[in-house]
Amino acid sequence: MRILALVLLMAACSSAEQLEVTLEGENAQRLLRFYFGSYTSEDPFEAGLLEKRGSRFYVDLAVLREYSSELSQELKAKASGGIVSPDSLRTAVQVTYYHARNLPRMLSEFNDQWVTDNAITFEVHGPVTNYLRRITLSESALQNAIQNYYENGEKIRYAVGTAIKAEHLRGTRVVETTAMVRRSDGFWDFVTYDSTGALVSHTLPNDRALATPTQCAGCHFGEKGFEPEQSWPLEPAIVPGDIRKWYTGARDTEVAEFFSEHLRRSDTLLGLYATAYISDLRARRGAGTLDSSAIALLNRLGL
Ligand code: HEC
Repeated sequence: MRILALVLLMAACSSAEQLEVTLEGENAQRLLRFYFGSYTSEDPFEAGLLEKRGSRFYVDLAVLREYSSELSQELKAKASGGIVSPDSLRTAVQVTYYHARNLPRMLSEFNDQWVTDNAITFEVHGPVTNYLRRITLSESALQNAIQNYYENGEKIRYAVGTAIKAEHLRGTRVVETTAMVRRSDGFWDFVTYDSTGALVSHTLPNDRALATPTQCAGCHFGEKGFEPEQSWPLEPAIVPGDIRKWYTGARDTEVAEFFSEHLRRSDTLLGLYATAYISDLRARRGAGTLDSSAIALLNRLGL
C-alpha cells in the first residue's frame, strides 16, 4: 500500500513538471524538434526535453528550465489543464526564439557575422511578399552543396553556417530582409530585419505579417508547391500580381528534372539555386566560356 502511494506520488510530481504540447498536422513531430531544438542545440528528444507517449508530446519543464527559463515560464503561464495549445506554443516560441538563438539585433552585425563571399544573387517574385525578392548566397557554398550531391544521397545540402538572405525590394530600396542560417542539427534559423536593419518579430503585412520563425517553418517544412518554382522551367500557370520575375538565366529542362529541387526541398530550401546555377553552366559550356573547375563540376554530376 505504502509503495503504491509512493508510486502515485512520484507520478503526480513528475506530471506536475510536464506539460503536453500540441500542434496540428503530420509535421507536428518535426516542427517540435525544430522549435525545441532551437533551445537545446541538440535533438530535444535525446536531450530528455521532449517525450512522445502514444501520439502525444510532453515537455519536461525541469529540463527546459536549464536551457531556457524564459520559454519554460511562457509555457507554464499559457498552459491550461496541463496542455499548451498550438497557438500558445507558437507565441511562446516566437517571443523567446531570437534571444535563445543569439541572433544579431542589427542586420549590420548579421552581415559581419555571416559574410557572403563571392555572392551570387537570384531575383524572383514569389508567394512570401508582393515585393521583388533578391536572394543572395555564397557561390562557394552553392558549389560545395552541388559538389557533395552524391555523397549526401542525391541531395542538395548546405554546410553548417551557410547564410542565405532574401531582401524585399521596392524599386532599389530594401524594405526588409529575411534570412536563413544553416544550423548543425539540420534545421535553419529564420530571421527578419526591417528597413532600418533592426531585428523584428514579423514581416511587413503586405498579404499577412509573417511571425518569425513559426510561420516561416510552416511553408519551408511543408509539402505545398509554390510558383514560379513549381512550374519551372515553364512559365507559372497562375501569375499573381503585375511585374513578375523568376530566375532570369538559362532554363534547362534536363537539369530541372535532375534536381527536382523545389519538389524535393532536401534542405527545407524552396528556391531553385542549384537548378538555375547548373542550367547556366550548361548554357555557357555550349558557348565555350567555362573554366576547367566548372566543367569538372558538370562532369561530376554527369550532366
Ligand atoms: C508562403 C510560404 C512561405 C512562407 C510563409 C515563408 N517562405 Fe521563405 N520562401 C518561400 C518560397 C516559395 C521561397 C523560394 C523563393 C521565393 O519564392 O521567394 C522562399 C525562400 C526563402 C529564402 C531563400 C532560401 C530558400 O529557401 O529558397 C529565405 C532566406 C526565406 N525564404 C526566409 C523566410 C523567412 C525568414 C520567413 C518567415 C518570416 C519565410 N521565408 C516564410 C516560401 C515561404
